[in-house]
Amino acid sequence: MTAPVPESSAVPRHVAVIMDGNGRWAKARGLPRIAGHRKGLERVRELVRACGEAGVQYLTLFAFSSENWRRPEQEVRLLMELFLNALDREVAKLHENGVRFRMIGDVRGLGEAIAERIRRAEALTRDNRGLTLIIAANYGGRWDIARAAAELARGAVAGAIDPDAITPESLEPYLSLSEVPEPDLFIRSGGEQRISNFVLWQLAYTELYFTLVLWPDFDRAQFEQALASYASRQRRFGLTGEQVEAARRA
Ligand code: IPE
Ligand code: IPE
Ligand code: MG
Repeated sequence: MTAPVPESSAVPRHVAVIMDGNGRWAKARGLPRIAGHRKGLERVRELVRACGEAGVQYLTLFAFSSENWRRPEQEVRLLMELFLNALDREVAKLHENGVRFRMIGDVRGLGEAIAERIRRAEALTRDNRGLTLIIAANYGGRWDIARAAAELARGAVAGAIDPDAITPESLEPYLSLSEVPEPDLFIRSGGEQRISNFVLWQLAYTELYFTLVLWPDFDRAQFEQALASYASRQRRFGLTGEQVEAARRA
């Protein structure tokens, strides 16, 4: 069976971002790396506002990958501190603005203090109708897929799932972003052109946008450029350009 062609419009419903380049931004100014992360947090505030205004419904931000634990101990510690403080300071404001807050990743690995605040923030904002802000922390795309596969395996062992009947659609309900539409637009700042184990499964048909701009410099104008690039593209999902045109006119 062919999957239906997802609807696409000029404004992405879901934007996923790898916020990269904080360290280089700081280094270029002779500042400690954490200064770049702090400035990066300001850009997150700005982007959340801009997404709300543009009509984006879901924003997923890569804040800390499962590989980032390999960084110097001090940077990891300061990042966790920054994250904890941000949760304490920002959640009330997000709630006031109707933002729904969610986390994906192995939350327990972030420590009890952070895990507890995440639970509270998710519970507080659960029924909000504005932008859904999803923070990926201690997250890895492979971890996510492996976890979903383990769920399928459990079902198979219990006799509830027939391994021969497994399709991509059978795995999807067990992924972290199962109830969220797939990202339409992926943005990576900082100049690297790679996915770095961010959402892997759901990026299959996402439009990719890479910019040299370092994350602490990624302002509203930069975001608008990314949106404009997205709006200029034709998403074909395997069809021909003519088929997509015809479907659009119908
Ligand atoms: C991204 O910026 C933020 C995190 C990974 C937490 P970096 O810290 O990776 O910045 P660069 O790539 O070293 O410039
Ligand atoms: C990806 O950035 C992770 C986050 C932005 C949180 P990295 O800076 O860790 O990616 P690599 O290691 O350069 O691929
Ligand atoms: Mg980096």
